[in-house]
Amino acid sequence: MLKRGFRFIDLFSGIGGFHQAMCALGGVCVLASEIDEYAIQTYMENYNIDSNLDVTKLSETEIPQYQVLCGGFPCQAFSKAGKQMGFADETKGTLFFQIVRILKSTKPEFIMLENVRNLMSHDKGNTWNVIKGTLEELGYNIKPVIMSPHQLGVPQLRERVYILGVRRDIYSEEINVVIPRKDKTALNIYQSGILEESADEKYSISEHENKVLTCWDEFYNGIKEKVIGFPIWSFEFGQDYSLDEYPKWKADFCRKNRNLYLNNKKFLDKWLKKWDYLEDFTPTERKFEWQAGESISTIWDGIIQFRPSGIRVKRPDTFPALVAMVHIPIIGRYKRRLTPREVARLQSFPDTFIPNSNDHQAYKQFGNAVNVNCVEYLAKQLFDCVSG
Ligand SMILES: C[S@@+](CC[C@H](N)C(=O)[O-])C[C@H]1O[C@@H](n2cnc3c(N)ncnc32)[C@H](O)[C@@H]1O
Repeated sequence: MLKRGFRFIDLFSGIGGFHQAMCALGGVCVLASEIDEYAIQTYMENYNIDSNLDVTKLSETEIPQYQVLCGGFPCQAFSKAGKQMGFADETKGTLFFQIVRILKSTKPEFIMLENVRNLMSHDKGNTWNVIKGTLEELGYNIKPVIMSPHQLGVPQLRERVYILGVRRDIYSEEINVVIPRKDKTALNIYQSGILEESADEKYSISEHENKVLTCWDEFYNGIKEKVIGFPIWSFEFGQDYSLDEYPKWKADFCRKNRNLYLNNKKFLDKWLKKWDYLEDFTPTERKFEWQAGESISTIWDGIIQFRPSGIRVKRPDTFPALVAMVHIPIIGRYKRRLTPREVARLQSFPDTFIPNSNDHQAYKQFGNAVNVNCVEYLAKQLFDCVSG
């Protein structure tokens, strides 16, 4: 195990998911690097460290001595053409290359990187092979681990690849990591301790949204089908125009919607009339996706999102990964959107963390961040493998 007070650098630092985890393990941040002005603001407010530093402009000589390099690097494609050209040509110009450049000259004992799960299969595995090969060439023993916070009891499904590395001269055997298996349906947002008891009025859904959801709730409760394996397009109910011009998938969805209508005609005619044929709904509000199976019997027990593809309802135990955070999820029972504090908790940031005062930025930053508990859990095992 590293001694308390070990030093780490936080590249592509965002709001410091790695920072939180490393500090919890006794580390001290000696350098952070970020280019987004709002993330820099949040980092300063929480850690009193100026992270305003472009990795591409960071000179190796500016980096203080340290033991652990952390980085949730943005994923950029490596060209296939570069495949035969050796690592310098292959990765030049990508942000991963910046990590390589820094590792080459500073040779820390440990590496911990994070990326989307797709990194492993991207470009038929070529991207991953380049990353792994490059890090090995630099003298590191590498172990990729795919993990999601729900495996640690946090109600968010967010599979990511964590790339663990230790310098081979320190530890050359297989890096052993144990990850708990967790039944994906074992969690429930309502019993998780994530939700705040009360929230500002500004997070409540609007009257119009309440109306739209009440309408769709009546729909779900009125139709015979309880498991719907296709998107509901209400504008197809009662239609019979030709579908010959449509691509197969679209014609298929239309047909399924028309059949659903015929199967529930008596109820749906009344429902359409009661809700004025959804005329004051936006086109996307006329679409509905039930992705909760039979786990709940009302929209108001689910997690709801107003998405461009329609209104989506998910079960309360499969909280969708928080990414981009454009369509902030609605907690059905509370008739309000998640607050930044709740999003922070889903990302395992402590309640002492101060989210950016601009909600839009706060949601985006948490959506981009790495889950703190996952990093801490894996980093501890990585550091322990040396002493163990
Ligand atoms: C996936 S996010 C990492 C988030 C971070 N791990 C956290 O916990 O908040 C990638 C970050 O890299 C930053 N970034 C992109 N290009 C950069 C560069 N040239 N130098 C420093 N940071 C950069 C982005 O602004 C973004 O915040």
